Amino acid sequence: MNTLEHLFCSSSLWQRMSQRYVLPWVLSGARLGEHVLEIGAGYGAATRQLLQLTSRVTALEYDKNAILHLKARHGEPEVAPLCGDAARLPFADQSFSSVVAILVLHHLRSREAQDRAFAEAQRVLRPGGSLFAAEINDGWMNRLVHYKSTFTPLAPSSVFARLTAAGFSRVSVDFRGGGFRIRARKAAETSSKPRVLVASSAMA
Ligand SMILES: C[S@@+](CC[C@H](N)C(=O)[O-])C[C@H]1O[C@@H](n2cnc3c(N)ncnc32)[C@H](O)[C@@H]1O
Repeated sequence: MNTLEHLFCSSSLWQRMSQRYVLPWVLSGARLGEHVLEIGAGYGAATRQLLQLTSRVTALEYDKNAILHLKARHGEPEVAPLCGDAARLPFADQSFSSVVAILVLHHLRSREAQDRAFAEAQRVLRPGGSLFAAEINDGWMNRLVHYKSTFTPLAPSSVFARLTAAGFSRVSVDFRGGGFRIRARKAAETSSKPRVLVASSAMA
């Protein structure tokens, strides 16, 4: 991220915007379950609000300075800040009930890294768990804001195919203002045991 992004993402203005407008829209009507993985948690603008909706938040972040900030800000045992890469998640399969990524996907270095992040989110989600993301549109303004930073815009029209390829179902993309939200679900496990139907008949 460049200096402008660091300033904005650590500001109380962004925290208020995130808590009043972004998160309520991205998560509206959804249940997060008991353990949320927040990828690219940054300075924690969304972390405290997530904690009000779940019992544990693992806050993964790439930037070591932001991790220090997260640790200083969140001393509570229910929040675990961790340094790591969204495209190579350091977690076992099926560890989380939900994965949340607010303005993170365009910061991944390539389309391939984004696809790996989708596959990783799917891997670490429990069956029935959901991915929630907020993204910004491509455009000259956003390209300017990301000067000397990473900007790999995610085309909304590509999201359905890419998330489906990663193993998600119920993929939805909705637009608002200058961005869009993505919601997708990992299919609930179906029993591999054959169903045996026992017919009984009552003898008169
Ligand atoms: C625009 S900030 C958003 C931060 C936070 N989600 C928020 O809403 O304030 C994007 C964050 O993604 C992080 N990031 C970039 N690449 C990452 C990666 N490969 N894995 C995890 N986090 C990453 C950046 O360090 C930055 O903190």
